[in-house]
Amino acid sequence: MDTKTKYLGLDLKSPIIVGSCGLTSDVDKMVEMETAGAGAVVVKSVFEEQIIYDIKRNTHVVAPIDNYGDSYEYISQHVADDSLNRHFETIREAKRRLTIPVIGSINCFSYENWLTYAIRFQEAGCDALELNMAILPYETSLSSDDVERTFTQIINTLKKSISIPISIKVGTYFTDMAKQLQQLSWMGIQGVTMFNKSVQVDIDTEKECLCNASWLSNPDEMHNTLRWVALMSKKMRCDLSASTGVYTADDVVKMLLAGAATVQVVSCLYKNGIGTLRQLNDGLCQWMQRKGYDSLSQFRGKLAVQPNEKASVAMRTQFMKYFAEIV
Ligand SMILES: Cc1cc2nc3c(=O)[nH]c(=O)nc-3n(C[C@H](O)[C@H](O)[C@H](O)COP(=O)(O)O)c2cc1C
Repeated sequence: MDTKTKYLGLDLKSPIIVGSCGLTSDVDKMVEMETAGAGAVVVKSVFEEQIIYDIKRNTHVVAPIDNYGDSYEYISQHVADDSLNRHFETIREAKRRLTIPVIGSINCFSYENWLTYAIRFQEAGCDALELNMAILPYETSLSSDDVERTFTQIINTLKKSISIPISIKVGTYFTDMAKQLQQLSWMGIQGVTMFNKSVQVDIDTEKECLCNASWLSNPDEMHNTLRWVALMSKKMRCDLSASTGVYTADDVVKMLLAGAATVQVVSCLYKNGIGTLRQLNDGLCQWMQRKGYDSLSQFRGKLAVQPNEKASVAMRTQFMKYFAEIV
């Protein structure tokens, strides 16, 4: 059974890839993922906040006794480099030990650092870069134009500066999501990952403080991704990678039928182990065999909303089927 596919212009032996997470910061685990059948790995993101945290932690001794701003700057730079170099060493080692593509991932908040980190990721040898750009529009002062401008500026700058394929990982917080996703896909990027799952908030009622809810998704969460992949896959000029709530081979098949180029898994591996990748690939092959498909291209996007089809009508039809049984 041929499960080979192209993603971001890269050759993958399987459309099932491991999304960015703690498991992909460890090269031994990435080797395990390749052995279990992962088509590619997205390495744990470098977060700008983490680099700043490292700088603060390592320079607090120097700062009070040093009246010379230059040396503080110098040491901060040194700590930042050291912190980043640890990530790049992981990428270099992963490239030495893996045959599957290794995709880097960054998440910054300052404009300059998107560029600095992206160039360094390319130099470290990763095959592509996923920009974790899931912007949460928390501020009342932030308009949808501001959010759009942030995407445009960062993507345009990075496209001019690096030559490896770029994909962006987005969240669901767009007022006009279909239009935004389509316009992003016209910017010359190679892929969009739908969707990032931001940390969920909870409240500890005993301590009366905000805390994080579970990081891991539930299987039910795949339906939102499925809806948007089906709606957008034929309307975008780049690959779609489906992420969030994928747990079973059946989920993988659904995402492919909806038009995803690849399907990312994370929570499923945390809950059920890296070996689950083998079951997902076996399940995909068994389904293809049962259905008489020899390759992914024979069924990928079969159930996507067609470019000439009105999305609102397609979705309304589903709604009416369920609630009014009139179709
Ligand atoms: C423990 C953990 C760490 C994560 N770290 C990152 C990260 O560094 N960068 C990123 O883009 N996404 C990160 N994610 C989000 C995942 O890549 C993925 O988008 C999300 O978990 C939804 O997929 P899932 O339902 O298969 O878990 C993390 C998720 C988990 C559970």
